[in-house]
Amino acid sequence: MVIPDHADPAGRLIVSRVSLRDFRSYARLDLALRPGIVLVVGPNGAGKTNLLESLHVGTQGFSPRTRVESQLVRFGTEGCRIALHGRRASGVPVDVEVVLRRGEGRRSRLNGAPLQAVEELRRELATLVFTPDRLAVVKGGPLVRRAYFDRTLARLFPARAELSPGYGAALTQRNAALRRVSLGLSTREALAPWTERVVDLGRELVLARRDAVELLSPVFGERASQLGLAAARLAYDGSPPTEEALAARLERDLERGTTGLGPHLDDVSVTAGTRELRLFGSQGEQRLAVLSLLLAEAGLIAERTGEPPLLLLDDVLSELDPDRRRSLAERLRGTGQTLITATSASALPVEADQVLDVTPGLVQERA
Ligand SMILES: Nc1ncnc2c1ncn2[C@@H]1O[C@H](COP(=O)(O)OP(=O)(O)OP(=O)(O)O)[C@@H](O)[C@H]1O
Ligand SMILES: [Mg+2]
Repeated sequence: MVIPDHADPAGRLIVSRVSLRDFRSYARLDLALRPGIVLVVGPNGAGKTNLLESLHVGTQGFSPRTRVESQLVRFGTEGCRIALHGRRASGVPVDVEVVLRRGEGRRSRLNGAPLQAVEELRRELATLVFTPDRLAVVKGGPLVRRAYFDRTLARLFPARAELSPGYGAALTQRNAALRRVSLGLSTREALAPWTERVVDLGRELVLARRDAVELLSPVFGERASQLGLAAARLAYDGSPPTEEALAARLERDLERGTTGLGPHLDDVSVTAGTRELRLFGSQGEQRLAVLSLLLAEAGLIAERTGEPPLLLLDDVLSELDPDRRRSLAERLRGTGQTLITATSASALPVEADQVLDVTPGLVQERA
């Protein structure tokens, strides 16, 4: 089966071929993908999540479900290979190859040129993923949300991507200095440069996060309402740290050896009307909120870069009622390319642009 490259006039990156060797359950897989909604179907354990994972590794350089790369290599084999071919609106073809060998790490190439770091791939190609674990973004603790919104911030404002790791490093240094002071190994004066850095980077980070949340919130609300979740919004919960506030709690901080205020303790509230979805959202509402966040970010990235990200939606359809499945499918129609999994094709109430059955021994495209 030969499907031509889809150079899309709207400026989207479309992956048209994926080829896997010894990746997870796939000894060998060669698929042609179409733009639009690609419904990946098969029974439990068929390899649907594996296929989405391979596209994430191929476009982002890492797996969304494990940091242990050797898990990606098919049992009993020594290495795996993922190759993707796609094309941008500009006509520029995109070829990616990622090869992992047990114990040797990874080699990756973009259009034939070896990449030094995975980050290079991430800068070139945008992919957003929903997995059931992502529900933690709404229902988990503040730590999960901070990490999620910091990644979003990095994607929306690449120039400010280093603020979060920079602040984290400054905080670690200040905490170490606090412990040295309380052990009598250092003077209080020695804290000053670290406090200043925590305040400076902390302020920048809070401002960047607020900007990201303000940019996302209205689009998030709009997507959520289209999916049937009314009056949803985001709000940043925290304010920039100041020297005065840190000075006021210095004794407590010295005692505990940690900095007790700053963006490392802030949160983002996700609400629908007056309800905090973390505490009072139903499972389905929490799922809709996570999806709406993803769609909001996808829309913003598309607006800013001219290229909607590739969307990988694993297990989103379960727990959504038929009306909401339909609204979601209608939303996805307008974007570049979305792979969405289901155990049966009937889970999607509208016609997909392509249905791929990944049942072992039967990988094929259904008419
Ligand atoms: N490294 C590996 N080598 C071989 N098989 C693997 C490897 N890692 C995972 N598998 C197998 O891949 C199979 C398919 O997994 P996958 O998660 O893709 O299924 P799925 O179609 O998403 O199922 P579900 O509907 O339950 O989500 C599993 O049975 C798993 O044991
Ligand atoms: Mg799965």
